Amino acid sequence: MQDSQQILIFDTTLRDGEQSPGIALNTAEKLEIAHQLSRLGVDVIEAGFPITSPGDAAAVRAIAEQVEGPIIAGLARTHSADIDTAWESVRYSAKPRIHTFISTSDIHITHQLQTTREDVLGQAKAAVFHARSLCDDVEFSPMDATRADVEFTAQVCEVAIQEGATTINVPDTVGYTTPAEFEAYLARLYELTPGLRDVVLSVHCHNDLGLAVANSVAGAMAGARQIECAINGIGERAGNAALEEIVMLLHTRGDAYGGLHTNCVTEEIAKTSRLVSRLTGYAVQPNKAVVGRNAFAHESGIHQDGVLKERTTYEIMDARTIGLDANSLVLGKHSGRHALADALSQLGYKVEGQALNQAFKRFKEIADRKKQVTAMDLEALVTDEIRHDEEGFSLEGFSATTAGDISPTASVRLKLPDGSVVDGEASGDGTFDALFQAIANASGYAPALREFRVDAVTAGEDALGETSVVIDLDGATGAGQAVATDVVEAAAKAYVRALSNAVRRSKTPMTTDMKGTP
Ligand code: KIV
Ligand code: ZN
Repeated sequence: MQDSQQILIFDTTLRDGEQSPGIALNTAEKLEIAHQLSRLGVDVIEAGFPITSPGDAAAVRAIAEQVEGPIIAGLARTHSADIDTAWESVRYSAKPRIHTFISTSDIHITHQLQTTREDVLGQAKAAVFHARSLCDDVEFSPMDATRADVEFTAQVCEVAIQEGATTINVPDTVGYTTPAEFEAYLARLYELTPGLRDVVLSVHCHNDLGLAVANSVAGAMAGARQIECAINGIGERAGNAALEEIVMLLHTRGDAYGGLHTNCVTEEIAKTSRLVSRLTGYAVQPNKAVVGRNAFAHESGIHQDGVLKERTTYEIMDARTIGLDANSLVLGKHSGRHALADALSQLGYKVEGQALNQAFKRFKEIADRKKQVTAMDLEALVTDEIRHDEEGFSLEGFSATTAGDISPTASVRLKLPDGSVVDGEASGDGTFDALFQAIANASGYAPALREFRVDAVTAGEDALGETSVVIDLDGATGAGQAVATDVVEAAAKAYVRALSNAVRRSKTPMTTDMKGTP
């Protein structure tokens, strides 16, 4: 039961977040994130936009079938086919929700939808009516509301409420509003929409001007009791409001916001952030609030001195509150399968059967090279296994000469999606260049490399290497990541995954004309 100051956290990492360029999560990856969001204690998971592709619909359905706890929502335009497809995907959840939307701003109505206000009103009415005939929990969003006439938006919201919408979500679709303006807008919306007090008001803010979190909590001060946000703030363009910032802001400074609070398990924040970053390939900037690598680091002598004497001199949050102490777990090279399964279950992963055998094999490979395998290593390893892509390319073998040679060369063996095995060779400006060229040659594609990053999973000379590759294939962006003790191997695997994602993205058929998508 929601108390009067509780903010429901509606996570849209798998829908709006997944719309970020280059992100192409497969069903297994989406499921892993959804399970982790459930452990984090979010109230709603927006699992996808089922009409956009059969793959998206299947992933939403798998989440609805397998993830317990949160409400599972599917997005739909006002078209009947969208709503039916969303329902077919979410109906397997114990708590399904259909989220339907249409723009109320004249800019969108005129230029994008190319219709009239009257038609928008009619579409909203029919869509909510239809959605409610299928599902008891229906959310309606007047898209681009903050640039729309508030009186017209109120009219549309009132109709949606009359037709049975249970949540009205006000989106700042292009990150245009400001905190004071948004509060005033919502206050006016309450005045103009008699039914709004009987439903949950929600806000959905984008970060184009860096105000997504500030606007979201301003919305809560105006009466919203649901905030839509995404892990690490990913999403269209500059992204959505960052979930971890909203949750920790209310956790740390709820006193400044009249006691507003969430039911999230803050200790799961750091782990969720790492999982999303790894699976999406979107690195977290080092100085990012709450989850950045430096968020709890102290560089200057004065600060270090203060924190050593008393942590609160320069820290307003305790790193343990977001789960940054979960690193104490360590396994040695002689640890057996049971110890590994135990350690993985302490980290929240239930790994059994063939998956455990595979994890154990990889653990042994790492343990042979590293003195101690830490929780962070295990987490990286398990995430790496989840990334396994049955429909894409896979690396069967490779060799590469070092960049110290006059002209580095590489050769690779690649398994194609149709199961055939091909070889490729190339020379390049450096080892990685030669390797990436060899993979591209073997695959028959010619993508352009956009980004290549190498990080260490933990500190220390024997740390696991984590690589991230972003490529562009005829306008389709693909990101891939991998972890290995050898960074050249990790780079090759990450490139192959990026290629699989880019090819999948460039081929994904849109099942309908997507005019009017957010
Ligand atoms: O930004 C937006 O307007 C959206 C809606 C679908 C809620 O993502
Ligand atoms: Zn959005």
